[in-house]
Amino acid sequence: MRTQVGIVGAGPAGLMLSHLLHLSGVESVVIENKSRKYVEERVRAGVLEQGTVDLMIETGVGTRLKQLGLVHHGVELRFDGRGHRIDFADLTGGKGITIYAQHEVVRDLTDARLADGGQVIFEVDDVSIHDFDGTRLRITYRKDGAPHQIECDFIAGCDGFHGICRPTIPAGVLTAFERVYPFAWLGILAEVAPSSDELIYASHERGFALHSMRSQQLTRLYIQCAPDEQIEAWPDARIWDEMHRRFATHDEWKLHEGPVVQKGITEMRSFVVEPMQYGNLFLAGDAAHIVPPTGAKGLNLAIADVRVLARALAEFYRRGSRDALNRYSDVCLRRVWKVQRFSWWMTSMLHRFEDDNAFDRRRQLAELDYVTNSRAGSQSLAENYVGLPMEL
Ligand code: FAD
Ligand code: DHB
Repeated sequence: MRTQVGIVGAGPAGLMLSHLLHLSGVESVVIENKSRKYVEERVRAGVLEQGTVDLMIETGVGTRLKQLGLVHHGVELRFDGRGHRIDFADLTGGKGITIYAQHEVVRDLTDARLADGGQVIFEVDDVSIHDFDGTRLRITYRKDGAPHQIECDFIAGCDGFHGICRPTIPAGVLTAFERVYPFAWLGILAEVAPSSDELIYASHERGFALHSMRSQQLTRLYIQCAPDEQIEAWPDARIWDEMHRRFATHDEWKLHEGPVVQKGITEMRSFVVEPMQYGNLFLAGDAAHIVPPTGAKGLNLAIADVRVLARALAEFYRRGSRDALNRYSDVCLRRVWKVQRFSWWMTSMLHRFEDDNAFDRRRQLAELDYVTNSRAGSQSLAENYVGLPMEL
């Protein structure tokens, strides 16, 4: 098979890239090692920045998002048993975020690609990429046991943190920057109405907790836990007990309980490779960088990368110019590092660290007090949370 851009991975990055390329008249093929059902049901992120929402609507994949997405204009930071609202609309000139599950984004993009005649090939094995430092690039894989090959001009490595594209780049080309956190998140999805209209980020002596949602009937909750925690050690009753303690307030507020329909543990890591390209191979999304989830940025950053990449590839095919392709990594990394900083800062402000002492806790509480009571402090959080402007 021959195409212009071979894309490895049908997550948000790979699918959005394929969609944007199609709109610019550039052909691509996406290959994915999991099944379509698996990727469309995998529970992950849920917060879309304004820019991500606008892009989905402008490019014709926002119909269900407009119907089902929950638009929020603020979040609550809760500490010392009291809630403090950060008013995004007021602080950012009317911007907000939309709660819409990542697997719904993936579903909308897959539907659009297939409806437009695009090729998304699921359940492939033994994927490897070849000759990407030259001009005759190839992706090889197996499907139903039979060998296949895609010849292409460019390869986009959109295969996530554990994918094969980044590790295939020769040693010494990339520099990795990393921080692993001494905690993880235990997340649940519960069949119960959210207990608040907006997200609640709670900093408690016992650790961080987050209240989010997926719909009027589905609540998403997370608590900080040990990094090596086994999910079997957390029967539902223990999870609810811990949630009640961490969200407790001095007023009548109550956390609603309901049947737990999904639970899992997510490790926390900050990771970046520089540069995000080698020859005609371009890394995008989690394949190139990971943020801890506290700022709700992973999915949004993946979308921001492929916006830059789709433009650069379109410019190459339209005008034969490699200028934008050559700048891809530099343009992306400016945003990546700002988002890394924000995600690290939110994580550090809200979690308990194992070596925390009484001084550290007082300092954290002072920071929360400052952020929630100073307009400058709140505004800095708000403008990062709703998403920094795209610089293409
Ligand atoms: P991915 O979504 O990881 O997509 C990569 C795709 O490539 C996958 O479909 C994978 O199956 C496929 N693939 C991998 N290897 C191969 C191969 N060899 N060949 C073919 N295909 C391959 N972010 C938040 O903001 N909030 C959250 O609550 C949150 N929770 C998360 C929970 C988990 C368990 C994980 C792993 C991530 C979470 N994230 C969260 C991060 C967010 O989901 C990611 O940043 C986002 O998915 C990045 O999109 P992507 O397309 O770059 O990568
Ligand atoms: C969700 C996940 C996040 O990481 C976050 O910061 C806020 C909300 C969510 O899954 O809804």
